[in-house]
Amino acid sequence: MGRSTPNLSNVWFKVTDLDVATGLGSWITTISGERYLDFTGGIAVTATGHCHPRVVAAIARQAERFIHAQANVYTHDLLQPLAQRLAELSPPGIDTFFFANSGAEIIEAAVKLAKQATGRPNIIVFQGGFHGRTHQAMAMTISKTVYRAGHAPLPSGIFIAPFPDGRAADLESEIDQALAGFDQLLATATAPGETAALVIEPVIGEGGYIPAPTRFLQELSLRSKQHDLLFICDEIQTGFGRTGKMFAIDHYAVEPDVICMAKGIASGFPISALGTKGELDDQWPTGSHGGTYGGNAIGCAAALATIDILSENGFLETVQARGDQLLAGLNDLMAKYPFVAHTRGLGLMVAIDFDTGQRTDDVVEHCLEHSNLITMTAGATTLRFMPPLTVTPEEIDLALTALANALAAVA
Ligand SMILES: Cc1ncc(COP(=O)(O)O)c(C=O)c1O
Repeated sequence: MGRSTPNLSNVWFKVTDLDVATGLGSWITTISGERYLDFTGGIAVTATGHCHPRVVAAIARQAERFIHAQANVYTHDLLQPLAQRLAELSPPGIDTFFFANSGAEIIEAAVKLAKQATGRPNIIVFQGGFHGRTHQAMAMTISKTVYRAGHAPLPSGIFIAPFPDGRAADLESEIDQALAGFDQLLATATAPGETAALVIEPVIGEGGYIPAPTRFLQELSLRSKQHDLLFICDEIQTGFGRTGKMFAIDHYAVEPDVICMAKGIASGFPISALGTKGELDDQWPTGSHGGTYGGNAIGCAAALATIDILSENGFLETVQARGDQLLAGLNDLMAKYPFVAHTRGLGLMVAIDFDTGQRTDDVVEHCLEHSNLITMTAGATTLRFMPPLTVTPEEIDLALTALANALAAVA
């Protein structure tokens, strides 16, 4: 098989063939000077847009002070301030933080903490979930077979519970069935005494941008308390303002025991965080987990600058307004084209479903080829939008025009 780029692995799937040179705000520029509107936001990472000047300045300042202050060897002077800032933003009780580099690494950390804190071996995850590509995270990922196929044996002790399809006409009975499935797992497959935690995305991300119904999450929270399971919220994609609140779980009046954070936390600098309660962290034996780069000083600087921007007065309200604008435009298109099956959104986590996967791919391709708009899919028939949270009303309009043209072309 030929290599699409010499010397580079073919293992990365590609959304586009673009070679980029620079990025600013919602835009990227290719090496040949073409500009594209990036509505993937680096897969929900560039919260403050590409190269926000305040994030760039914070990174530059920190690079002159310390690049790698290894966390086992010494404690640099941004680690505690970042942990304190995250504690202020997190749901009640989440006050203690561990740092790593990527989302999957934080999922690994969450599972290790849960096993140590409870003394129990098993984990429950939910249909459609995506938690990463390391072996443990892959065993917990059931959004598509491509992530798992050919990698057996996967770690054991993972049990899959139903996740209600929020698009179903009879949502209440969907929720009842999913809860019954959860109860059945505990009764027949993994006894509560052997189950350390449930791990759930409050909005299924890679698996199709499907928000969990409120009653579902609240009932799961009750069950986790009843059986002493840890409620672990994977906010890797949904966190840091993406849904119009700092964390998606803030929409639900549910208090998790652990939150997994990454992606938007530092506008693109690779840093991730595990937030938990002090009393759970106390059960995590010192030295049983760690990592060479976790809590990187430049990552902490980028995260603090990002959080400052996200915390400004009115920022999250604006995210919600941009999301509403985008969703209203998608609803207009749904009214016009019968092959649009569904639209939905929570903040700037917005999706449109088409009747077939082929139609979805054709729309993505048309937007790219004819309008220089970069989008990507989720699940089988969903096109997802995750622009920077700093996206302007004009940029949303540009994207909607591109989409309208694409839908007319594929009709
Ligand atoms: C919800 C969720 N969890 C975990 C991950 C894995 O994160 P990473 O790719 O940084 O390992 C992702 C990545 O898309 C994600 O969306």
